[in-house]
Amino acid sequence: MITKNFQRVYIWELPVRIFHWVNVLAILVLITTGLFISNPLAILSSAEASEIYWFGTVRFIHFTAAYIFFFNMIFRIYWSFVGNKYASWRAMLPLHKNWFENFFHVLKVDILLQNEKNPEFSDISVGHNNIAGISYVVLFLLALLQVFTGFGLYSSTSQWWLPQLFAWVVPFLGGDFMARTLHHIATWGFILFIFIHVYLVFYHDWLEGRGEVSSMFGGYKFVNKKRINSKKKSKKIVETEKI
Ligand code: HEM
Ligand code: HEM
Repeated sequence: MITKNFQRVYIWELPVRIFHWVNVLAILVLITTGLFISNPLAILSSAEASEIYWFGTVRFIHFTAAYIFFFNMIFRIYWSFVGNKYASWRAMLPLHKNWFENFFHVLKVDILLQNEKNPEFSDISVGHNNIAGISYVVLFLLALLQVFTGFGLYSSTSQWWLPQLFAWVVPFLGGDFMARTLHHIATWGFILFIFIHVYLVFYHDWLEGRGEVSSMFGGYKFVNKKRINSKKKSKKIVETEKI
């Protein structure tokens, strides 16, 4: 691997990192408890029915994680307006003119495993690359579907105004069956995302050697100095630290 002239750059602010790991935990708990709800274990026991309440506990954990997931998501929406440019909603949508160039570069190198002949394109992304950015938008849409169908199903068991806001969803979808089916299918979308996302984070770390994995813990990545210097004049880099 060619040794490059790297500089340490602060990318992921603490709120983004906290959001990320709370989100990871909530999603893992929601998937595990959700799959138990969809296919409950038949536990044989001689205890009184009133003494075994494990399925109620599974549902309770699902709903608790669901509230955490929901409020965490609202917080991240807020942060995409007040956070740094890497956390901004603009970093995830195809809004700038080089968007497709970067998208095809990532597709070619990361997914089709081709070599990049144009050195200008290597380690082009400082924050999210454009495929990652758009994949978070898709995940956000899936999360919205989970929130609507999930709180829709939950609204019949809670009188609180928040779940009640979604009481129209189940009748709108024609009943519980469709709401649960959509909720279930979207879960597999999350599972697919996790496999691809974790693989690509580790793959980038290995391919580019810019500290991708540790960036979601410490917030820093390593960026080619040439790339920073060309941007420094426009004061676009928020905080840099020499190594
Ligand atoms: C705001 C978020 C959420 C709420 C309010 C919510 C609520 C619910 C409710 C009320 C049920 C039905 C429980 C029952 O019938 O006993 C359910 C089932 C389920 N949930 Fe969630 N949920 C949410 C998010 C998620 C997420 C993010 C996932 C996975 C990524 C997930 C996966 C599942 C699965 C797999 C089921 C079983 C569906 C089936 O019947 O096949 N949920 N959820
Ligand atoms: C349940 C598993 C996971 C889920 C659902 C998940 C979800 C996400 C989401 C939604 C983002 C966008 C963050 C934002 O802009 O707010 C993200 C970014 C990121 N995640 Fe994860 N993540 C998972 C596991 C992991 C793991 C195990 C690592 C390894 C350290 C990791 C490392 C990263 C990194 C480095 C980024 C920034 C990548 C980029 O440049 O786009 N994630 N993840």
